[in-house]
Amino acid sequence: MQTLKVGIIGTGDIAPAYLRGCAPFREVAIVACADILADKARAFAASWGIEALTVDGLLARPDIAIVINATVPAAHAAVSAQILAAGKHAYSEKPLAQNRAEARPLLQAAAAAGLRLGCAPDAFLGGGNQTARQALDAGRIGEPVAATAFLMSRGPESWHPNPDIFYQRGGGPLLDMGPYFLTSLVHLLGPVARVSAAARRSFPQRIAGSAAHRGRAIAVEVNTHVAGTLEFVGGAIATLITSFDVWGHHLPALELHGSAGSLALEKPNMFTGAARLLPAGASEWQALPFSHSIEMGRGAGVAEMALALQRGRPQRASGELAFHVLDVMQALEESAAAGRHIAVESRVERPQPLPAGLAAGALE
Ligand SMILES: NC(=O)c1ccc[n+]([C@@H]2O[C@H](COP(=O)([O-])OP(=O)(O)OC[C@H]3O[C@@H](n4cnc5c(N)ncnc54)[C@H](O)[C@@H]3O)[C@@H](O)[C@H]2O)c1
Repeated sequence: MQTLKVGIIGTGDIAPAYLRGCAPFREVAIVACADILADKARAFAASWGIEALTVDGLLARPDIAIVINATVPAAHAAVSAQILAAGKHAYSEKPLAQNRAEARPLLQAAAAAGLRLGCAPDAFLGGGNQTARQALDAGRIGEPVAATAFLMSRGPESWHPNPDIFYQRGGGPLLDMGPYFLTSLVHLLGPVARVSAAARRSFPQRIAGSAAHRGRAIAVEVNTHVAGTLEFVGGAIATLITSFDVWGHHLPALELHGSAGSLALEKPNMFTGAARLLPAGASEWQALPFSHSIEMGRGAGVAEMALALQRGRPQRASGELAFHVLDVMQALEESAAAGRHIAVESRVERPQPLPAGLAAGALE
């Protein structure tokens, strides 16, 4: 198996997580970066010992096979399209694009060129999500009937160095955090058939808190509280709330309820969150021992894509999975606006579980 060279476009807040997260995997090596702000790319390159290039320069490099798109959500579709047009495999940060219309051409371009299109989040490859998947597939909660997923906070503007993106088109709690919870739900329960939702934009402006922007008002262009119901093709019904309007709460992150028990996932958006099981009739939840490594971080999906590419099989954090999640999110927004159920047209297979018992840094 070859180590594929990787470039990263967008050297902002999340970029270091890719350098750290890809490092344990021999499938990939990040060798270069680029940013629309050349100075930022140079400083990043210097701190990680990689090469700084222009976006065009990076895309012209014949030795780079995969390019990670870690730009802002509004630029995802255009940058991924550029990556694919340059003949490189693309791996995008979430969401895949701002909407279906932007995302569809990416899937088509990748398929036409025989290139891979992958997308974050990849936390479903982590120990918590995989342990929950194993328990579910082993029938430990029986037939799933319901799920709940709650991601509620007062928003990231208090700390994020570039807080505007969370309140512009392509942002908001649903498009920003929804991909984690929805990807975990689809990984566990399969595709969604139909949704309904209510949404609101509670505050017309938000006040930034990070050093460079402290006190500055941010205009809000997106819904900041979205409460939805998802009906899965398999029959389970999930309640999902994503919010940047909530000071505090006591609701669990993600739970599945089945005919023979309940399963809770502490942090579906992390690689490390533990899974717990309550068998039917029991009064105490039991912590499930991790069936999979938690020594993994953001970027595992890139390494897994590189491996899948060389093995000639589908990758797990795929463009198709991300498109379905985007389709569900757009349908939720459409439902809230129209005041009726919206059918979700796309379908996707559950990604294959990772084999249990892999050593840290191993994917097969
Ligand atoms: N920050 C986090 O905690 C976090 C966590 C998970 C995922 N993400 C995702 O990662 C992505 C980036 O978020 P971030 O927090 O790093 O944002 P950021 O604003 O800190 O960084 C984005 C970088 O992309 C660059 N950029 C923007 N448009 C570009 C273009 N067209 N070409 C080249 N470079 C361009 C910007 O100059 C900036 O350096 C988003 O999709 C976000 O949802 C962020």
